[in-house]
Amino acid sequence: MTQSPGQGNALDNLLTESRTFPPSDEFAAQANAQPALYEEAKADREAFWAKQAERLHWETKWDQVLDWSGAPFAKWFVGGKLNVAYNCVDRHVESGHGEQVAIHWEGEPGDSRAITYAELQREVSKAANALTSLGIGAEDRVAIYMPMVPEAIFAMLACARVGALHNVVFGGFSAEALRTRIQDSEARLVITTDGQYRRGNPAPLKPAVDEAVAGAPSVEKVIVVKRTDTEVAWTDKDVWWHELVDSQSDQHTPEAFDSEHPLFILYTSGTTGKPKGILHTSGGYLTQASYTHNYVFDLKPDTDVYWCTADIGWVTGHSYIVYGPLSNRVTQVVYEGTPNTPNEGRHWDIVEKYGVSIYYTAPTLIRTFMKWGADIPAKHDLSSLRVLGSVGEPINPEAWIWYRENIGGGKAPIVDTWWQTETGAIMISPLPGVVSTKPGSAQRPLPGIGAKVVNDEGVEVPHGGGGYLVLDEPWPSMLRGIWGDEERYRDTYWSRFKDQGFYFAGDGAKYDNDGDIWLLGRVDDVMNVSGHRISTTEVESALVSHPTVAEAAVVGASDETTGQGIVAFVILRGGAGADAGGAEAIKALRDHVAKEIGPIAKPRQIMVVPELPKTRSGKIMRRLLRDVAENRTVGDVTTLADSSVMDLISAGLQSGKSED
Ligand code: WTA
Repeated sequence: MTQSPGQGNALDNLLTESRTFPPSDEFAAQANAQPALYEEAKADREAFWAKQAERLHWETKWDQVLDWSGAPFAKWFVGGKLNVAYNCVDRHVESGHGEQVAIHWEGEPGDSRAITYAELQREVSKAANALTSLGIGAEDRVAIYMPMVPEAIFAMLACARVGALHNVVFGGFSAEALRTRIQDSEARLVITTDGQYRRGNPAPLKPAVDEAVAGAPSVEKVIVVKRTDTEVAWTDKDVWWHELVDSQSDQHTPEAFDSEHPLFILYTSGTTGKPKGILHTSGGYLTQASYTHNYVFDLKPDTDVYWCTADIGWVTGHSYIVYGPLSNRVTQVVYEGTPNTPNEGRHWDIVEKYGVSIYYTAPTLIRTFMKWGADIPAKHDLSSLRVLGSVGEPINPEAWIWYRENIGGGKAPIVDTWWQTETGAIMISPLPGVVSTKPGSAQRPLPGIGAKVVNDEGVEVPHGGGGYLVLDEPWPSMLRGIWGDEERYRDTYWSRFKDQGFYFAGDGAKYDNDGDIWLLGRVDDVMNVSGHRISTTEVESALVSHPTVAEAAVVGASDETTGQGIVAFVILRGGAGADAGGAEAIKALRDHVAKEIGPIAKPRQIMVVPELPKTRSGKIMRRLLRDVAENRTVGDVTTLADSSVMDLISAGLQSGKSED
């Protein structure tokens, strides 16, 4: 169904998808979530959240659920005191689960380690004692720049335990990116490793720390975990983890902190300018991380084996590897490496090896698996998988169906979870067992969450209409600001719909005719073609629905006649055939989009590329593709996961064969 912008929609709703998948009776009967959860939250939101907070151990109970008088700075569970690390570790040992495996750690080269809750408690206690011995305590900032090794999780929990804020910086970031994040947060301590495994080879990591620390006077000490045994230069600030931490006592008494005590800062790059230090606090954050992890993934702590493939440098790693899962006494897999080391079946080897039952990943990886071909997962027994999750980007219906069929055995429910670094935890997602899922839709706000789609005036759009996603009620795990920049916090999130008091997420979205929410990508990416505001997501989904296409990125490039013209970059599927990039095939692809969405969305140009530029968390950097499409020098590539990709794309284009 097509609506024009004149009808009060900020974004056109072009693509329709009508497939739905109701939960099986068996799944519904055993699900943690039951339909009454929605009713309960609606009846009394604050009472509902108070009940969720009871999932945690509070040293002192709160006397007020929510204080919103200082909006947009919320206080949740006011007056309550708790220790976040105690909630994630010690209490499970005390309840008799010390021998349960918390983490099945799988190293990239094939080494592995099973860490029980009792062992986790000892490791975290030692690390906490080490922090104290260095004079690190409440409100100090600690930068963590590490690959996915167990010590990274010990370090995060040790910070939480002593009330210090961690500031995790993705291990793929440059020295300069690390330096700015250390400086902005004035970190006193950095925790790192000598090196990290990347695609089968050890690569040095510490030299980047040395470079960053040389320009960051706040840093007093650097703790170095030995991972790759690479030789490293040594300064008088450096101390080995095994020398400092291993000699500490494995007993440590956690102190309870205020519910609003800061827990961490995590930097997220805005579209432009300096990265924003997103600040999260303790009680509300942990409540929502725990609640969502329990219901959205249907976690059964005694039987499930959970695996979230994110990196701890990303908020998904914070909320769905560390805080949500561990507070729920999960048994989980943590994998250090890349999905194609030593071969493209590595993830499915791991699923088989540990009997993984819940698997949470990103659309970019799902599309990569599509590109590698369905025959790879087909060689593995994936029958242990019973819930699949997706996060980070809109998932195209075709990728969703591929995921369901080839990974989920045609039956595991898929939860498409919408949230942000800023929201701290999942906000919009189907509840498995309750909601009939729809390929490509995050569907509805979780019980206790308020979200809607509004037009330019802040008025909710009708079913079938498109606009901006806003959050119209404060939520427990909401950010408590941008580190050191109150003005920017108000401007970025609260000024667009100031009169209504809505949080503006920066995403476009639409309602379908049932009122389910479909995410349409960042509003900065919206294209305007002859007055139609078209979402990049919808055109990308149409392209990916063609059998030869694995992945697509679409941008609007300035166009003399139409304002903007649609330029598409596509990656072909494995086995697409030699002719799939030829002129005929490109024409067929353009026609396919016209047929799926309408002639207005037909790409002006389609380029076949080997890779797409992505951030560390797998998001496509359309800004860079716009530079290519408009024949400009490609802009800042420092936040790209792999900065050589832009060279690859440019080289491919110069060979000329991929243009229409
Ligand atoms: C996008 C990641 C569609 C969105 C947890 C959001 C999504 C941004 C989804 C936040 C989803 C995340 N469907 N879009 N299920 N999940 N996004 O801060 O644009 O890395 O605003 O947090 O990712 O990215 P961030």
